Amino acid sequence: MLGSGFIAGFYTNALQKYRSRDEAVIAYSRNEENLRRFCEQYNVPEYTTDMAKAVQSPEVDLVVIGLPNHLHREAIELCVQAGKGVLCTKPLGRNAQEAKEMLDIVEQAGIFNGYLEDLAYTPKTLKALESVRNGAIGKVTWARSRETHPGPHSDWFWNIELAGGGAIVDLACHCIEIARNYIGKDVRPVEAMCWADTLVKPIAAEDNAIGLIKYATGAIAQFEVSWSFRGGLDLRDEVAGTDGTIWINNFLRTGFDMFSAPGRGGYVSEKAETESGWIFPVGDENIELGYLHMFGDMIDNFEQKSPPMESFYDGYVVNAIMDACYRSAKTKKWEPVELEDWRGKDQVDPIMELHDYNDQYYLVKEEKLPDGSVKTILKDKATGEFKQEHVMP
Ligand SMILES: NC(=O)c1ccc[n+]([C@@H]2O[C@H](COP(=O)([O-])OP(=O)(O)OC[C@H]3O[C@@H](n4cnc5c(N)ncnc54)[C@H](O)[C@@H]3O)[C@@H](O)[C@H]2O)c1
Repeated sequence: MLGSGFIAGFYTNALQKYRSRDEAVIAYSRNEENLRRFCEQYNVPEYTTDMAKAVQSPEVDLVVIGLPNHLHREAIELCVQAGKGVLCTKPLGRNAQEAKEMLDIVEQAGIFNGYLEDLAYTPKTLKALESVRNGAIGKVTWARSRETHPGPHSDWFWNIELAGGGAIVDLACHCIEIARNYIGKDVRPVEAMCWADTLVKPIAAEDNAIGLIKYATGAIAQFEVSWSFRGGLDLRDEVAGTDGTIWINNFLRTGFDMFSAPGRGGYVSEKAETESGWIFPVGDENIELGYLHMFGDMIDNFEQKSPPMESFYDGYVVNAIMDACYRSAKTKKWEPVELEDWRGKDQVDPIMELHDYNDQYYLVKEEKLPDGSVKTILKDKATGEFKQEHVMP
């Protein structure tokens, strides 16, 4: 386990909890005192402040990177040198070029690589994705994903050089990959339009942003991210399809509401701003945030030598989309998503389908009105004219 901070705690807990046969055998971090405490808390038998020593340990099969964004590259290089499989947290790189370099070196070395995008693995998301793939909502036209909270917990996130950006690189990476899963990973992201601004915090990076990503089918992904949202961690997704709709609330209002005047219930949930009054506890964050299912997929595939659902290639595509968003936020124009390495389809069918009503007309829409009558909107195949049929009850 590289890192002994916030995400390393979640990862270690989820890993050791999930199958019980997985074990964090050694942890690395720069601060020995924190590291010792971390290892005691999560029963990790060995620790070191030497990153290479942790990676090279003969006990280690797979390295998990839970380090600040600027250290992902160094950690991955050590894994390549040691020939160890590697799982890296999000974002893969601080930009697409860095992500591509990391992708290239792990693929050239032939080592197992997984991109730890936990929010693609929440139980709700996995079930929704399966329904979408089975055709439950038809063709996806629009996927909206929102992640907002009051801002990250460590100093390095706020430094644009170390983090690579602000709320986009930190939070939109999740939203982009969630939407990409719904729209289809083999559908090419074509261009992006983005608003980003620094509204509240005294930083060089953006603390609020909204982005649109247009895909080759015509489908649109929309992300909304903020580091200044008050009230906790808001994680919501909406997917629209030609035959259905999905709304998911992953975190803030999941059906567990508690009122506590004294606020003595203990830890409420990630980024909760209060422990009293109306609070929204989360039953088990390891499950609700996707960590258990993510490590299950990663380690099962590591053992079977097959690719996991989320790989470094996905991390690279996400970085390329974010780069286009940053360019668009500056130019205020749609900017192309530059993918020098595209592994999906080159040709896709457009979303629009013509439905025959009869030999003369296409069906546009049918609706029952309050008086019980039914109106049918038709389009003449030859002339393009619209007409309505109104059948009284
Ligand atoms: N849901 C998620 O997937 C999720 C959530 C939070 C963070 N993350 C990612 O995990 C990574 C780590 O974030 P975190 O929240 O655990 O951060 P953190 O600050 O809580 O922990 C960082 C760890 O890295 C160690 N470290 C080693 N060298 C360091 C250096 N030079 N500067 C700073 N720290 C150093 C620290 O000692 C600490 O143990 C980031 O890439 C972040 O984007 C992912």
